[in-house]
Amino acid sequence: MKVPNHIAIILDGNGRWAKAKGMPRGYGHIKGCANLESICDDIKDLGVKYLTVYAFSTENWKRSREEVDGLMKLFRSYLKKCMKSAEKNKMRVKVIGDISAFDDDIQDKIKKLEDFSKDYNELFFQIALNYGSRDEILRGVRRLAHDAAEGRLDPDKIDEGVFENYLDTAGIPDPDLMIRTSGELRLSNFLLWQLAYTEFYFTDVPWPDFHKPELLKAIEKYNERDRRYGGVKEE
Ligand code: IPE
Ligand code: IPE
Ligand code: MG
Repeated sequence: MKVPNHIAIILDGNGRWAKAKGMPRGYGHIKGCANLESICDDIKDLGVKYLTVYAFSTENWKRSREEVDGLMKLFRSYLKKCMKSAEKNKMRVKVIGDISAFDDDIQDKIKKLEDFSKDYNELFFQIALNYGSRDEILRGVRRLAHDAAEGRLDPDKIDEGVFENYLDTAGIPDPDLMIRTSGELRLSNFLLWQLAYTEFYFTDVPWPDFHKPELLKAIEKYNERDRRYGGVKEE
């Protein structure tokens, strides 16, 4: 079985999973977070090089104060624990998204984790926090426009490669497989540029129940796909 080089996952369904158990949404986030740790290990064991997960969107601030506060608390403990996981899996961790919206201590924890793991290269793990693809593109375009206005960039030389350097994912290859758990069939503002030729896999399984056998199913389905990139395969 061919393993994708880069898997991107929209971690969805924590709230519904908890509700079905008569528990508060926050319980679903705690279990979802624990599952992220084990999926990371599985991804590493399978030999996947890049993993990108969507954990908090630019739109998720619209949730109740209680839920957002609970998520921030969870990020604090997760970012700390992630150091051990980075060391164990020799993984480089990078947060994508606009982290300036987070409290200073969370921003510090992100920077510490990124710095601590910067020389690892067995797994490249991107966590999307306060991430929205439109926001990412606009932040990139603003920087690009400044560079052009100040003479550092020739507008006629802007091609896909140049533009990609202004995205949060600069230097990271596009995902080969995008998985969304819990039944929703949409992207919810995730990696709109980067997913142009990615294979999609949707499952009804909610994120806290998405364990290694489910991951293997997704990879099996990926292996059945006929990737063409707009070309035609020789018979
Ligand atoms: C995904 O689960 C986690 C975050 C978006 C933070 P949800 O919280 O979206 O769970 P559902 O979709 O409401 O079940
Ligand atoms: C997308 O899930 C964002 C994350 C998983 C972090 P949402 O649950 O927020 O998306 P919608 O609201 O169902 O589109
Ligand atoms: Mg959701």
